[in-house]
Amino acid sequence: MTRKIWMFDTTLRDGEQVPGAKLNLYEKLEVAQQLKKLKVDIIEAGFPSSSAGDFNAVKEIAMKIGNTDDTIITALARAVKTDIDAVYNSVKYAEKPLIHIVLGASDIHVEKKFGKSKSQILDLGVDAVKYAKTFLPNVQYSTEDASRSDFEYLWATIEAVVKAGATIINVPDTVGYAEPEEFGELIFKINDRLKNLNDKVFLSVHCHNDLGMATANTLAAIKNGADKVECTINGIGERAGNAALEEVVMAINTRSSVYNAYTNINTKEIMNTSRLVSSLMGLDVQVNKAITGDNAFAHSSGIHQDGLLKARDAYEIISPTEVGLDDMELVLTARSGRHAVKNALESLGFNEMTNMQF
Ligand code: KIV
Ligand code: ZN
Repeated sequence: MTRKIWMFDTTLRDGEQVPGAKLNLYEKLEVAQQLKKLKVDIIEAGFPSSSAGDFNAVKEIAMKIGNTDDTIITALARAVKTDIDAVYNSVKYAEKPLIHIVLGASDIHVEKKFGKSKSQILDLGVDAVKYAKTFLPNVQYSTEDASRSDFEYLWATIEAVVKAGATIINVPDTVGYAEPEEFGELIFKINDRLKNLNDKVFLSVHCHNDLGMATANTLAAIKNGADKVECTINGIGERAGNAALEEVVMAINTRSSVYNAYTNINTKEIMNTSRLVSSLMGLDVQVNKAITGDNAFAHSSGIHQDGLLKARDAYEIISPTEVGLDDMELVLTARSGRHAVKNALESLGFNEMTNMQF
């Protein structure tokens, strides 16, 4: 049976961590408005304890964009009371607010970053969730660096925070180390235990792109039971970025029989969203980037152009109109053949001339 995958967009939090990509309040509101038009399910609006400006932006987004019940507004907190207070006091204006807590789960984070024992960290996580639950019913818990964690400790953490009231468990591949088959198996194992523990709790993933596998890992997680995925527009984010929302969504749409899933995303708003984020953040999109790159729907080889003019599906798996573009682009190059040149002249109105010449 086909199931809904919840789309969580973190362009305004993980994406805004890109050096130089800082947005002002009005730009953040514009991006959030566009994300709502795109119909993402959850907007992560920022990290309110990081600055007064970020706190205020999350609050304004909660008030102005989160004023309907179709978009959940969240923001990030470390597992400390002051961070959780800041998230609550900024997202509480939304119709549907969510508190997001992150705490390391791998030995590297527990021992080297925090210098604590595993049971101390687990207790911190449980206390943070219990504290967040005094404010809101919906709390997401992220087990940072999950893909490099000891599995039984990771599971013990998940079990404890779910018993403390977490309603979404997010499994991040924080450093982009995971490999699709292995990550899929990890998600399958967690999902199996999680749904036995409490089948109302959502399982989510958050994949980074350090080895170029963020989209593949996200899709592997979907195949193996993830209910929700975290992405950014154009794949921007810390270091090599996050899984690109447009790639995950169009893969699910185009290969729906493989994933048995759908999303609520209004795909016709993909290009508008990509261009807005790119121009406001000053981050160019790689020309050959899947879905949103300038060349993603441009064809230059004469063989391909001839094939496309005879049958679009010869070289096209997604209609450009599905993502909000007008049409495919046949670029006249030294490799273009007569068929493409004739087509180009005709589209400029030179019908009689083309009849004579070709
Ligand atoms: O990469 C990461 O682990 C994160 C968490 C806050 C989900 O961004
Ligand atoms: Zn991240």
